[in-house]
Amino acid sequence: MKLGVIGSPIEHSKSPEIHTNFANQFDLDLVFEKYLVGKDECLEWVKSFFESGGLGLSVTLPLKEVVLEIADDISLRAKQAAAANMLFLKDGKIFADCTDGLGLVTDLKTKEIDIFNKKILILGAGGAAKGIVPSLLNGNPKQVIVANRTPEKAIELVAQIQELGGSQLKSSILMPSSLTLDNLENTSFDLVINATSASTLADQNLEVDSSIFKGAAAALDLYYSQTDTLFMQMAKEQSVAKVYDGWGMLVEQAAESFSQWTGFKPDTSGLLESRGA
Ligand code: ATR
Repeated sequence: MKLGVIGSPIEHSKSPEIHTNFANQFDLDLVFEKYLVGKDECLEWVKSFFESGGLGLSVTLPLKEVVLEIADDISLRAKQAAAANMLFLKDGKIFADCTDGLGLVTDLKTKEIDIFNKKILILGAGGAAKGIVPSLLNGNPKQVIVANRTPEKAIELVAQIQELGGSQLKSSILMPSSLTLDNLENTSFDLVINATSASTLADQNLEVDSSIFKGAAAALDLYYSQTDTLFMQMAKEQSVAKVYDGWGMLVEQAAESFSQWTGFKPDTSGLLESRGA
């Protein structure tokens, strides 16, 4: 079974070890490689991967949008996210899906972080935020606020998702123009999620006020990191009880992709514990 992950850069990717762990649970004969693929060669590369016997691909930055162009079929959640993190050759056709949001929601359940009827603040309005908002809304939170340093991008994100969401988008979404709690109408949030790319930078000057964590029960950075990100440090300083990085989401989105590719649903607990998640 030939699988892989594509992106640029790719050397940091943990996908091969995650999928090898899953394959070992079912004694599957699996080859899972990392491939350094840039945007320009992406479509040709993907075509020849599937022509040469490939079954599935994980897709990471900066290819999550461009791969939609080669897909014959796109899931609703990938359409809503306007991005895909996995490709799958099914009945001779390339199917694109976005399993990030489901990965996050599964991880939140494992961590006993409720979203039903809760208030959620999402920082950031790029691809990472787009990938998770539809799945969070499916969990019927009371309110989801997308806040971004550049407010126009938050407005655009919300409009795009509402257009594709139909009746399932029940929550109200506001677009504050700045990120202090005062400017967020003094609402306190049950869950704060960092979907900005600030944690990936050496200088993590996240432009938010620590008041956003006031009263929050949980804070989660979508980025996975060996050490606490600035966002996580700020949350801990504000006494948020449950503070996590994105390791759990990474493992769970991979598990969903793996079960679509192979038909086997892997146990994620070993991998989650290995990182203390
Ligand atoms: P991705 O697709 O990975 O989410 P992106 O599309 O570049 O990446 O979006 C990055 C997000 O992080 C954006 O919402 C960006 O805010 P702007 O739209 O204002 O650029 C946000 N971001 C990046 N660095 C930040 C920082 N230091 N503080 C706050 N937000 C930041």
